[in-house]
Amino acid sequence: MPNSTIAGLGHYIPKRKVTNSDLEKMMETTDEWIVERTGIKARHWADLDTDSTSNMGTKAALMALENAQLAPSDVEFIIFCTLSPDYNFPGGGVMVQEQLGLDTVGALDIRNQCSGFLYGLSVADQFIKTGMYKTVLVIGSEIHSSGLDISTRGRNVAVIFGDGAGAAVLTATNQTDKGILSTHLHSQGKFAEELMVIEPSSTSRCRNEFSPERMFPIMNGSAVFKHAVTRFPEVIMEALAKNGYSASDISLLIPHQANLRISQFIQKSMKLSDDQVYNNIMHYGNTTAASVPIAMLEAFQNGKIKEGDLICLAAFGSGFTWASALIRW
Ligand code: COA
Repeated sequence: MPNSTIAGLGHYIPKRKVTNSDLEKMMETTDEWIVERTGIKARHWADLDTDSTSNMGTKAALMALENAQLAPSDVEFIIFCTLSPDYNFPGGGVMVQEQLGLDTVGALDIRNQCSGFLYGLSVADQFIKTGMYKTVLVIGSEIHSSGLDISTRGRNVAVIFGDGAGAAVLTATNQTDKGILSTHLHSQGKFAEELMVIEPSSTSRCRNEFSPERMFPIMNGSAVFKHAVTRFPEVIMEALAKNGYSASDISLLIPHQANLRISQFIQKSMKLSDDQVYNNIMHYGNTTAASVPIAMLEAFQNGKIKEGDLICLAAFGSGFTWASALIRW
């Protein structure tokens, strides 16, 4: 059975940097409040004249392909993960397929919010392990900025999220000691309403008369925090146990960049050192499906991921959904 390895990573960060002091001009908030509660100092917002969720994903994918020394024509399947697609339907995967100039390769969209990229990675891994495909593109891309309530009313959510895209090219290898060792996926729909956007919804009788407030994200911040700090360590330990490892064996944990306080909580409860956990939420905010591949690429570029390392990815978010992946690099 072939294994899947990450052959290349890419990202695209929109140019416009929005600092906490920029947000202070839009709503009643302070740099101090945001840094203390979330660790975030800045995020990037897309330019809607030129950026779209799909074309940001395509740019990240092209970088990942270049880093893997592959051409778009090598891609056999596309998995596109987002909660903020260009259109309500069709999904962004087909847009990427067209933008990459691929003829008729399959494209699948994943709607799993913050754990989307990990769900995508797991699906890609299964396709490669069964021999169905040898090269699969997994993309996470989000434009949050156009859907946030940037008035004081929406400040508890608006300060957290940022825009960006990340991508990974997975390829098949016959090396048994390298690649994705296992993935672990979970969900608990009874908490669906703790972090959600209601509209556009098929349950609204007259879809063109919904109120704009129902299009903004609603979040029960303390419930999200409470579940996240339990589920992250749980799903990381599940991956380690499945492969006969313990927390001290992790070379680098790359958690979904939900909130710096959540990452610090996980680090402390799992007794991991600063060198074992990668955080970059300070610069980008929470970019949902894009956060893990963006952080993974940065960690790689900064020399924090080396051949032979044991890398753990983990995510938690709306759904609730959560997931982990253990990789021998
Ligand atoms: N700036 C200033 N004040 C703010 C604010 C902001 N951006 N957002 C909320 N507040 C205010 C509230 O109105 C409230 O004021 P009050 O006491 O006068 O009513 C006060 O700050 C505390 O609000 P609360 O919501 O209780 O804050 P909190 O300590 O729970 O922190 C979060 C809020 C969102 C930072 C925190 O709950 C959290 O990090 N949750 C996890 C969120 C997350 O990670 N989401 C992504 C999941 S993938």
